[in-house]
Amino acid sequence: MLLLFAALSPLAQEPHRCAACHSESVADFKTHRHAASGLDCGICHGPSEKHRNSVGNVPPDQVAAPADISKLCGNCHLAEKQQYESSAHGRVYVAGKKVKTANCNTCHGHHALRPWASQVENCQRCHTTLPASCKEKPVSMNARVACMSCHARHTLGVSRQ
Ligand code: HEC
Ligand code: HEC
Ligand code: HEC
Ligand code: HEC
Ligand code: HEC
Ligand code: HEC
Repeated sequence: MLLLFAALSPLAQEPHRCAACHSESVADFKTHRHAASGLDCGICHGPSEKHRNSVGNVPPDQVAAPADISKLCGNCHLAEKQQYESSAHGRVYVAGKKVKTANCNTCHGHHALRPWASQVENCQRCHTTLPASCKEKPVSMNARVACMSCHARHTLGVSRQ
């Protein structure tokens, strides 16, 4: 029964076709809500039929360059894209400045969601010195102090109450 489903469903079939050579990507992807929501590898990489049968000599149909990540994700997450592109991170990104800035995948990872426990370290890769305000106690706090206790996730704005 399960095998029959795997053979008939295109959604179940595609990651399976990639798994022979990309078991790690497939395993990571399965932990993301994207997989549970019925997305498959082809949403971001195209069917990649020639690639699949070429033992890697032919590139996949789509591999988003870093500069195209926001557009790729924005196809389905338009509000987040707009908020991000208006933020300090996004303005640097949209302008194509030769400065390392955070894009969707820097914070979220691409196949598996990046765990939030590692976010402070992630932010500090680029933000080594911070103003004193970042070390204050957030106005409302349910979890341990993290950057996003004060900075809005996509606009980075700080709300003062
Ligand atoms: C027969 C083996 C094989 C199969 C099957 C296969 N790939 Fe690949 N793939 C490769 C090789 C070899 C590379 C190049 C080395 C690497 O990045 O691992 C590669 C690289 C890639 C890359 C990175 C390309 C880049 O420019 O960085 C993506 C994305 C990719 N494959 C997607 C897929 C998807 C999606 C599928 C299933 C539809 C698939 N592959 C099936 C062998 C395969
Ligand atoms: C939501 C979009 C998305 C989906 C779905 C997705 N990928 Fe990717 N994948 C990316 C991005 C983004 C990268 C980073 C390279 C780039 O495009 O800039 C990437 C990179 C890769 C690479 C290169 C190695 C690496 O991890 O950087 C492989 C191989 C790959 N993907 C295979 C797959 C396979 C197999 C699936 C399905 C199980 C899949 N991808 C599903 C967006 C996606
Ligand atoms: C084809 C549509 C599509 C694309 C493209 C897409 N997503 Fe999603 N994404 C979804 C769906 C569907 C969900 C499930 C939740 C929902 O309904 O919003 C989701 C959920 C998420 C979540 C929330 C996960 C959670 O567990 O709460 C994040 C973060 C996310 N996507 C990031 C990205 C990033 C980053 C990219 C680009 C690399 C991307 N998405 C590309 C459709 C998409
Ligand atoms: C500076 C880090 C950062 C960047 C850059 C970023 N996000 Fe997020 N995003 C977050 C945080 C933090 C959350 C909240 C996650 C949580 O509560 O688990 C979030 C949540 C989400 C969600 C779930 C819905 C929600 O609002 O809670 C989606 C979808 C999402 N982001 C998509 C994107 C997309 C698409 C991009 C790029 C256009 C992007 N993000 C860029 C940090 C970021
Ligand atoms: C890859 C590098 C990089 C990473 C990782 C990164 N940032 Fe940034 N960040 C930047 C750059 C570049 C700017 C823009 C600086 C400028 O405008 O001169 C910026 C600006 C900011 C600002 C200033 C906002 C404003 O309006 O002035 C805040 C707040 C911020 N980042 C928070 C974060 C948080 C929180 C994280 C982790 C979730 C993070 N950043 C991860 C590179 C990064
Ligand atoms: C207690 C709330 C709070 C926390 C937690 C916090 N910040 Fe801030 N942050 C602020 C406020 C308020 C400002 C703007 C006022 C200022 O520049 O003094 C700010 C400004 C910034 C700026 C802009 C600095 C500049 O010189 O313009 C960056 C970058 C930044 N924060 C990153 C971070 C990162 C990364 C973390 C996590 C390690 C973090 N913040 C945690 C409140 C916070």
